Amino acid sequence: MSWRPLDLARPASAAFRVAPLLVALAMVALPQWALAQSSEAAKEAQRLAWDPDLPGPDQPIPFSHALHAGTYKIECLYCHSGTDRSRVAGVPSVQNCMGCHSQFGQDLEGVQILKKYWDEQKPIEWIQIHRLPEHVKFRHNRHVAAGLDCQTCHGPVQEMHKVHLVPERVWVNGMPAQKLEMGWCIHCHEAKKASIDCLTCHY
Ligand code: HEC
Ligand code: HEC
Ligand code: HEC
Ligand code: HEC
Ligand code: HEC
Repeated sequence: MSWRPLDLARPASAAFRVAPLLVALAMVALPQWALAQSSEAAKEAQRLAWDPDLPGPDQPIPFSHALHAGTYKIECLYCHSGTDRSRVAGVPSVQNCMGCHSQFGQDLEGVQILKKYWDEQKPIEWIQIHRLPEHVKFRHNRHVAAGLDCQTCHGPVQEMHKVHLVPERVWVNGMPAQKLEMGWCIHCHEAKKASIDCLTCHY
């Protein structure tokens, strides 16, 4: 039998290609009490993901990053597979979710909503949180390749039940700038010696 190394340059690499399988196996292998406990945690995560008092918009499905990326340690790139090679990070398809949820979690309210999208073959219309104007060029892949963690720009997403923009204020030439404003980009570009040429970021 020939052995072929996994292509580590691609996001669907070793760890997260087998992640659904491992999670699924773990779910099957878990003793009954542990399952009951994790399902309680998932229900609590669902409640929090729809808590109107938490920052961030209510999404069509009460999806919790704290549960998926935190508790279950699913890699960011498993779901946002575009980030390290393309312009957009993108949000995962229903199919990506069903890779796990056709196997477990069906008793959970949020997963039942997910399944409805799947049965009707409808995309989920997630509410977008980070958005730059059209005249700006931004590429995730260049930033990820430069070794910046997602959290540098997005905050501790793995602790969030509801994703929201984590505010950040920096000072550029004595002027304040908020996250996603031009000064915020320039501030880091100057610090990291990346280009601040107008045409780097503008068409
Ligand atoms: C790698 C496996 C995996 C993938 C992929 C996955 N999930 Fe989950 N999800 C889980 C596990 C594990 C639980 C906890 C199940 C339990 O406790 O019974 C869970 C729980 C949930 C819950 C209930 C708790 C909560 O609030 O999050 C929802 C809703 C959910 N997932 C939605 C999604 C959606 C939407 C996607 C796709 C964007 C997705 N999941 C992708 C593994 C996965
Ligand atoms: C199981 C799949 C899954 C995993 C793992 C995951 N995400 Fe997400 N992510 C989603 C989905 C679905 C959305 C859209 C719904 C929402 O905002 O919660 C999203 C939204 C986001 C957004 C907001 C996008 C916008 O509209 O601006 C950011 C930022 C983000 N994720 C970062 C991360 C980071 C960082 C990690 C790793 C720590 C991660 N995600 C892990 C599925 C996932
Ligand atoms: C240098 C800062 C920076 C880093 C590092 C970064 N992001 Fe982003 N992210 C942004 C900005 C800015 C936007 C808005 C992009 C736009 O509107 O074109 C964004 C948008 C997103 C979105 C919304 C959908 C999309 O594609 O526009 C997701 C999901 C996301 N990021 C996930 C991630 C993940 C996962 C990582 C780590 C692998 C990451 N980001 C690393 C700055 C960053
Ligand atoms: C936390 C630091 C940081 C932030 C914030 C940041 N960048 Fe960057 N950016 C970098 C680094 C470092 C590079 C250099 C990567 C390289 O040399 O390949 C880079 C490279 C780029 C490039 C590619 C340049 C090229 O030669 O193709 C563009 C475009 C860009 N950034 C746009 C933006 C925009 C727009 C924003 C704000 C919305 C932003 N960046 C915010 C650190 C950052
Ligand atoms: C590192 C990335 C980056 C560089 C370099 C950059 N910009 Fe920007 N610029 C942005 C971003 C992001 C926005 C949109 C957010 C905002 O309006 O603050 C923006 C917005 C603008 C706007 C529109 C403001 C508005 O009110 O709509 C103008 C005009 C502009 N930039 C001019 C320039 C000029 C001139 C240069 C060169 C001296 C330059 N930019 C260099 C990232 C950059």
